Amino acid sequence: MNYIGSKHTLSKFIKNTILKTVEEDISQIVFCDLFAGTGAISKTFKPIVKQVITNDIEYYSFVLNRNYVGNHSKYDYSNFLNTLNELEGVEGFVFQNYSEDGKAGRLYFSSENGKKIDAIRQEIEHWKTEEKINNDLYYYLLASLIESADKVANTASVYGAYLKSLKKTAQKNLELKSATFTATKNSHQVFNEDANELIKKISGNVLYLDPPYNARQYGANYHILNTIAIYDSFEPKGKTGLRTYYKSSYCKKNEVKKSFEELIKNATFNYIFLSYNNEGLMTDNEVETIMKKYGKYSLATTNYQRFKADKTENRNHKATSTVEYLHILEKEL
Ligand SMILES: C[S@@+](CC[C@H](N)C(=O)[O-])C[C@H]1O[C@@H](n2cnc3c(N)ncnc32)[C@H](O)[C@@H]1O
Repeated sequence: MNYIGSKHTLSKFIKNTILKTVEEDISQIVFCDLFAGTGAISKTFKPIVKQVITNDIEYYSFVLNRNYVGNHSKYDYSNFLNTLNELEGVEGFVFQNYSEDGKAGRLYFSSENGKKIDAIRQEIEHWKTEEKINNDLYYYLLASLIESADKVANTASVYGAYLKSLKKTAQKNLELKSATFTATKNSHQVFNEDANELIKKISGNVLYLDPPYNARQYGANYHILNTIAIYDSFEPKGKTGLRTYYKSSYCKKNEVKKSFEELIKNATFNYIFLSYNNEGLMTDNEVETIMKKYGKYSLATTNYQRFKADKTENRNHKATSTVEYLHILEKEL
């Protein structure tokens, strides 16, 4: 998924830095990814640690990680996918409010795909209510739907706006493809809470933090994914059909430092790693000053090429060079 701040391409750097720093046997540690997003870092550590605790305030992210991390025993789900792929389309909430030919005239999906998303989403819920599927399968199917819908969305990158006409990938018919997860012997924990609240209830060895670093709120930029995942009924607002969304203090210049310091203070973890980049709301000096108060601080950096999506249909990606910082704290507990 094309996700703002995804650490997919940086996962090697992050993993290697963490392995070099942490002195304990990695297979015995509890690793927490508190702002998990697409789960890139949780997925990296899931096969090598004792337990992953993963969390994100956005429900679509919880659904993805409930599958990627929470699911840990292999099972053949292909029959369920086949049945869902064969469903007739339904003119439901996504079709009416976010699709071509729907009553609202918003072009996030083709008419076909909007109806297919509704049909699949309704059937998954029906199976759950009828107890034909358990929670593991429910979240696996929802994660598969979120990923597959995202592939045919008619946007330049995020859901803050849709394109004026259907781009090539949005014209393709949605095919429900299997989301994946790695099987592990141990089980893991998945939460959908405010990081600053959850931190008071958990503990472990390594805490990885990747909060938003600028003013872009995830709830606004990925509102359609929440709408598909939650599938409630509400009055979509304005041209883009926005739902009410969570506003993170990490995206607010005048609140971020206070939230960050509280988080570090309340963390019961031996090592804390913070990903932050050079364009963030907090400067690297501000981060360092806060972290230094709570133990031994150091810094690892890497240069990398970031690709910025143009707001045009043909997406001429532009590469820009940025510095990614991994702030490290060995906390005095
Ligand atoms: C930079 S992204 C994380 C990207 C992730 N590491 C990845 O590779 O996909 C930041 C995430 O923090 C989440 N978030 C923002 N404020 C939060 C809060 N107060 N508590 C928990 N999660 C929050 C957002 O929903 C978003 O998914």
